[in-house]
Amino acid sequence: METIDWSNLSFGYMPTDYNVRCTYKNGAWGELEVCTSDSINLHMAATCLHYGQEGFEGLKAFRGRDGRIRIFRLEENAARLQSTSRGILMAELPTEKFREAILTVVKKNERFVPPYESGASLYIRPLLIGTSAQVGVKPAAEYLFVVFVTPVGPYFKEGFKPTPMCILRQYDRAAPLGTGIYKVGGNYAASLVAGEKAHEMGYSAVLYLDAKEKKYIDECGPANFFGIRDNCYITPQSTSILPSITNKSLMEIARSMGMTVEQRRIPEEELATFEEAGACGTAAVISPIERIDDLDENRTYIFSKDGRPGAVCERLYNKLRAIQYGDEPDPFGWVTVVE
Ligand code: PLP
Ligand code: COI
Repeated sequence: METIDWSNLSFGYMPTDYNVRCTYKNGAWGELEVCTSDSINLHMAATCLHYGQEGFEGLKAFRGRDGRIRIFRLEENAARLQSTSRGILMAELPTEKFREAILTVVKKNERFVPPYESGASLYIRPLLIGTSAQVGVKPAAEYLFVVFVTPVGPYFKEGFKPTPMCILRQYDRAAPLGTGIYKVGGNYAASLVAGEKAHEMGYSAVLYLDAKEKKYIDECGPANFFGIRDNCYITPQSTSILPSITNKSLMEIARSMGMTVEQRRIPEEELATFEEAGACGTAAVISPIERIDDLDENRTYIFSKDGRPGAVCERLYNKLRAIQYGDEPDPFGWVTVVE
């Protein structure tokens, strides 16, 4: 058996033992199958390949100090995949089937759930694709749902350390009434050029403005944005961002810590008033933002001068991680313990 350096994992793909699959045919979902092959046999005219009928999810399993495995908010991911399916006309997978698939794939790959001390986790990637052949632009009649898992470390290689982000007005990730609120591959394809450009210039991500007016904050590459000011957690309301489950959780945690929460449009200039800012998501957890450079307007907003996360980001991060790893009670009922 290979040895894994649990404490130095990146956010990458490592093969594991099993994946699970389920197919939709003749108007109904079949039984769950457990597979060892990591390939998919696909028709060359499948709608996922030509017309982007593809949606995915991302969630994590954590091994606690007690050795038990906890999965974070899986019903929320099931609901979001259903919303994505409605958004691009794919068959909806029932929550119960989603849950069974996630629990099965995690249990089958238990040896890949990183040990508590490593601070790493098992990333769970559900994928739903249209598989039947179409040449006309129409939804498929058949679908494949697959879930694989892979052990991961931090998404931004710096981990819980502030990194710089940039505003680039030449690129949009999603249109105001487009697919930004769904988790579909096309949104990520649309973000690749800007993302690479930002990385080449030393930024960890692009902070997107709304596509229509280029006035309001949307989100940060693969994560939502939040700012902190006067004990208030402020995060964008927008029709073109993904409704982040991490963000939703942080809003509840912030309220439980006595903070106020505002979810509303955030004009770019307001960045100058935030004491702290961060990106949040399953992969990103909380990634504090060191500064945001508006490269078109030659402006910089600074949130960390000493290279350390702000105190509020740190409190929110610690509380979220404590619930996820089972170090503290789960007052919100977010965690599914794998039995
Ligand atoms: N925004 C985008 C574009 C994402 O890809 C993700 C990752 O899933 C998020 C936000 C964060 O969402 P969540 O917290 O549900 O992982
Ligand atoms: C996640 O946070 O789960 C994501 O999907 C972000 C990225 C890896 C696409």
